[in-house]
Amino acid sequence: MKKAVLMTIFMITGLFSQDAYMNISHQGISPSATITVESGQEITFQYGGGGPHPMTSGHGSTDSPIFFPTVTVTSSNPTEVFSLTEVGTYLFHCGTNPGNSSNWGTIIVEAGEAEEEYPNGDVNEDGEVNILDIVAIANYILEFSTPANPEAADFNADGNVNILDIVGVANCILGFGPCGDELVLDIPSFVTDYLGEMPIPEDNPMSVEGVELGRMLFYDKRLSGDNTMSCASCHLQSSGFTDPEQFSEGITGELGGRNAMQIINAAWFTSFFWDGRAATMEDQAFGPVINPVELNETWPNVEAKIAADPDYPAMFAEVFGTETIDSVRISKAISQFERTLLSFNSKFDDYFYGDFTGFTASEENGFDIYFSERGDCIHCHSGPILTDNEFRNNGLDSELTDLGLGEVTGDPDDDGKFKVPTLRNIEFTGPYMHDGRFATLEEVVEHYNSGVKIDSPNLDEEMEHASEGLNLTDQEKIDLVNFLKTFSDPDFINNPAFSDPFEE
Ligand code: HEC
Ligand code: HEC
Repeated sequence: MKKAVLMTIFMITGLFSQDAYMNISHQGISPSATITVESGQEITFQYGGGGPHPMTSGHGSTDSPIFFPTVTVTSSNPTEVFSLTEVGTYLFHCGTNPGNSSNWGTIIVEAGEAEEEYPNGDVNEDGEVNILDIVAIANYILEFSTPANPEAADFNADGNVNILDIVGVANCILGFGPCGDELVLDIPSFVTDYLGEMPIPEDNPMSVEGVELGRMLFYDKRLSGDNTMSCASCHLQSSGFTDPEQFSEGITGELGGRNAMQIINAAWFTSFFWDGRAATMEDQAFGPVINPVELNETWPNVEAKIAADPDYPAMFAEVFGTETIDSVRISKAISQFERTLLSFNSKFDDYFYGDFTGFTASEENGFDIYFSERGDCIHCHSGPILTDNEFRNNGLDSELTDLGLGEVTGDPDDDGKFKVPTLRNIEFTGPYMHDGRFATLEEVVEHYNSGVKIDSPNLDEEMEHASEGLNLTDQEKIDLVNFLKTFSDPDFINNPAFSDPFEE
C-alpha cells in the first residue's frame, strides 16, 4: 500500500492523490504550495479554468470539475509545458489573464522521503502482518477505534470490513491463505477432471504478488556465487524450461552429470529430479543454490543479497506479511512462479477441448502408434501431463553407470529407474533422457524401436516389446515423431508472463 507524502500550504484546494494529481484553486489570488516528491516520482499538474486559458495546450475537462490534464508550469513562457519532476521552485499562472500578476503562484517541489510501503493486511502500519492487525480490524468493526490504515482493514477488498477480513488476515499469518491478491489460473477442465485441482501446499498459497516475486527470483543472478547465473540459466523458456546443453555448466564451469529437466505443469509432479530425491517443489528449490556444480552459493549470502535490494523486502512483505527474507520464503516464491508454468495449449489439447482442426494423416498414424499396443508409449507417458509420475527403467543400458532412484532409496530393485519425464513441448526440450544421450526425437524413437536393452536391470514390465522391438517402418517412425510434435505449445515458449522480468 503506497502513501504519498504531501505538505500543502496556503491556497491549495483538492488533494495530491496517489496518482500525484494536484488541483489548485484560482480565485484570482496567488496560490502557492510546497509539495514533496519522492525521487523519480512524476507529478502531473492539473488546473482548471472556466474559459479559454492561455497556458494550457488544449481545453476540455477530464474528471470533475473542469481540469485540464496538461502539465503547465512556467516561469516566463506561458505556453511551455513540462512535468514537475525536478526539485525546485516553479512559478505558475492560474487564471485567464497571464498579465494579471495576482494570478501567479509558486510551487516549491522538495525531495521527499521514500514512500512507505506496508504489506497487505498491515492495518496498524507497523510493518508486519500479525495478531495486532486482527485486533485492529476487530476494534474497527466494533467501532472502538480507527486503525492507522482503515483501507487496509478491507483485506479481501469486497467493500466491507467484516469477519471475513479477520479470517483473511489470520490465514495470511498462518500461511493458509494468500497475503496478496488471490491468483486465478485458467486450467482446462479435461486436466482437472483427470488429475484433480492443481495441488497447492497449504502453507504456500498462491498470490499474484507471490508469482511475480518468484519470477524475479527465478531470473535473479544474485542467487549464484558470482552473480552470473540464475535458475533460468539452465532452465530456458525457449527450451521448455530445460537446458539445450547435454550437461549444464555451473558457475565454476564444472559440468553436472545429468540433463536439466523441463519445468512444465510441474504442479502435478509428485516428486522432483530424475531420481525423485526431492518430495516437493519447495524442497527442490533449496538444492540448486548450494549445489557446487550449479549456483554454488550459500543461503545466508543469497538472503543478504536479496535483503539489500531496494525493492525485494517490500515485495516479500506483500506476499508473506513480513519483510524478513529467508531461504524458505525464497523457495516458496519460486515455487509459486513454477506452478504457473502451465502448458495446455497444443494441437494435442485442441483434440480434447479446443478448436480442433484435425491431425494430418501422419500425425494420426503417430497417434495410433502412441496410444495402441503398437508403440505402447501411453503406458508411461500418460494423462494430460504426459507422465504417470512413476519411476521406471526404459532399457537404456545393460550396465548402469547412474543408479537413478536406486541411489536415493538404496534398494537394488530401484536401480536404473528414472522419473518418467513429461513429453509436453518435447520438440523443444532436447537433448533427451536423464543424461541427454539422444540429440533428436528420431534417435529416441529408434531407441524404443530397436535399442531397448533386454538385460537392463529392473527393465520395466511395460516395455512389452523389449525383446523383439517395435519393428516400426520408416514411415511409422516419422509418423510417431510428427505426433510427438503435436505436444508443442508455442504460446508457452513465448508467453511474456514467463519471461525474464529484468529484460522488460
Ligand atoms: C547449473 C544448471 C542448473 C541450475 C542453475 C538450476 N538447475 Fe534445476 N535442474 C538442473 C538439472 C541438471 C536437473 C536434474 C538434476 C537431477 O535430476 O539430478 C534440474 C532439475 C530441476 C527440477 C526438477 C524438475 C522435475 O521434473 O523433477 C526443477 C523443478 C528445477 N530444476 C528447478 C530449478 C530452480 C528453481 C533453480 C534455481 C533455484 C534451478 N533449477 C537451477 C540444472 C540446473
Ligand atoms: C515403461 C515406461 C515407458 C514407456 C512404455 C515409454 N517410455 Fe519414454 N521414457 C520413460 C522413462 C523412464 C524415460 C526417462 C528415462 C531416462 O532418462 O533414464 C523416458 C524418456 C522418454 C523421452 C525423453 C524425454 C526427456 O525429457 O528427455 C521421450 C521423448 C520418450 N520417452 C518418448 C517415448 C515414446 C515415443 C514412447 C513409445 C514409443 C515411450 N517413450 C515409451 C518411460 C517410458
